Amino acid sequence: MTIAVQDLREYLDRLVREVGPESVRTIDGAHWDLEIGGISELMAESGSSPALLFDNIPGYPTGSRVLTNYMGTPAACAVAVGLAPDTPKMEVVRVWKDRLRNLTPLPPKDVGDGPILENVLEGDDVDLEIFPTPKWHEQDGGRYIGTACMVITRDPDSGFVNLGTYRACVQGKDRLSLWINANDGRTIASKYWARGQACPISVVVGCEPTLATAAATSAPFGVSEYDLAGAMRGEPVEVLYPPGSDLPVPAFAEIVIEGEMPPVEEESVHEGPFGEWTGYYTHSGPETVVRVRRILHRNDPIILGSPPLLPTTTPGYQGLPIFGATQIWQQLDKAGLTNVVGVWAYGLLLMFVISIKQTAPGQGLRALMAAAGSPHTIGGMQRFFVVVDDDVDITDLNHVLWAVFTRVKPVESIHIIPTMTGPIDPRLSPKDRADKDYLMGTVLIDATKPFFWKDDFPGENRFTETLREEIRAKWSDRLPL
Ligand SMILES: Cc1cc2nc3c(=O)[nH]c(=O)nc-3n(C[C@H](O)[C@H](O)[C@H](O)COP(=O)(O)O)c2cc1C
Repeated sequence: MTIAVQDLREYLDRLVREVGPESVRTIDGAHWDLEIGGISELMAESGSSPALLFDNIPGYPTGSRVLTNYMGTPAACAVAVGLAPDTPKMEVVRVWKDRLRNLTPLPPKDVGDGPILENVLEGDDVDLEIFPTPKWHEQDGGRYIGTACMVITRDPDSGFVNLGTYRACVQGKDRLSLWINANDGRTIASKYWARGQACPISVVVGCEPTLATAAATSAPFGVSEYDLAGAMRGEPVEVLYPPGSDLPVPAFAEIVIEGEMPPVEEESVHEGPFGEWTGYYTHSGPETVVRVRRILHRNDPIILGSPPLLPTTTPGYQGLPIFGATQIWQQLDKAGLTNVVGVWAYGLLLMFVISIKQTAPGQGLRALMAAAGSPHTIGGMQRFFVVVDDDVDITDLNHVLWAVFTRVKPVESIHIIPTMTGPIDPRLSPKDRADKDYLMGTVLIDATKPFFWKDDFPGENRFTETLREEIRAKWSDRLPL
């Protein structure tokens, strides 16, 4: 199936067309200094925020816009991955999993030209301050243009092109800072630094959601997230090579910032703090800079913003929970578990819930161990794994909690395994953080009914679906059932 949303603008058009005009809200006059961030947070907390397109931002020309909360509802998430807006939430994960299982990496296509070249700023014209970059949270140490950005680097050994999402702060007209942890982007940059060279880098601010989501995930080193995004979209990503650069950029991106990143010993800047996706300000300190050589942007560019909120108030943010659940499910498939009914994520990726149809004893724990062994981590913070029976609706947190509260025997159903976390973890003690001692642990909770007497487990007092439907049919014209 083809997804192929070409760019952010087409995604917004599709939302309006397929979900309805109320799914995209244009807001005029909100200030970059905390107002855009504050409105985005309050709207997200309502639980069903439309995509918010901020325009007429004070001090900036009309048309220079910021988009937030762009995947704030299940319908918006479905449209982003090319499905009908009313696709059930679990079905979205299932479709993605099947797509990835059959995935043949699809390299990007060089189309030579594209709207990203509408404006090319070089030399004295380079100025990052022309964009209405928000200050998102009260204690942020600057204006972060890159929150859902896509950072492109090329491995100098194999030549493969890597995409990653790393927070990017405007540090002046021609300086950007990046905070890059231990991931493929850092491995590549370190190779240039070891050769005494600065790492060529391009930062894309604003691209369609599948591409932005692929950038934030970790493909094995040597596999380009461009190829992954192509496979997920069902069509190659259309790219172009800006003059003199060997880093391909999306032809339909909104803004591309090109430059070089020297080692931190050669040039650094104080970066952070920044209100991160865990819901806390964690890291700040000297970090790497990008010396900006050139800026490309479309007319009326849109900054794609994903200001981190509390992980529990932004379930649909970035499509990351959907993608994370997909990856865990794939892991379970690889481990040979054939009875998995679904996987869902809460708190972005802090808790995964798996539902299984038990056919033999011990399957709950097997599923938990296979999931916890997944190589896919976001800062190492996959903290809780829960397994339940298939009668539990895992997309409903209340239903999951009910199973945990009533089917777990704490002395035998909860296991803690030693795993490593990452520097973003707020629970690291100051000493452990300084020593880089990241041992933290993961909790495995088996909330399935005990296999040998599951059929004798007390019956539920909840109305059956059949009776619910009968009551709805008779009463729903008078009551909101
Ligand atoms: C919204 C968002 C922001 C992120 N910010 C950072 C960041 O500031 N620094 C970082 O190292 N990783 C960050 N990550 C995680 C990386 O993008 C992720 O680990 C990715 O797989 C890295 O890609 P790579 O291994 O190809 O370099 C972020 C992820 C998301 C979804």
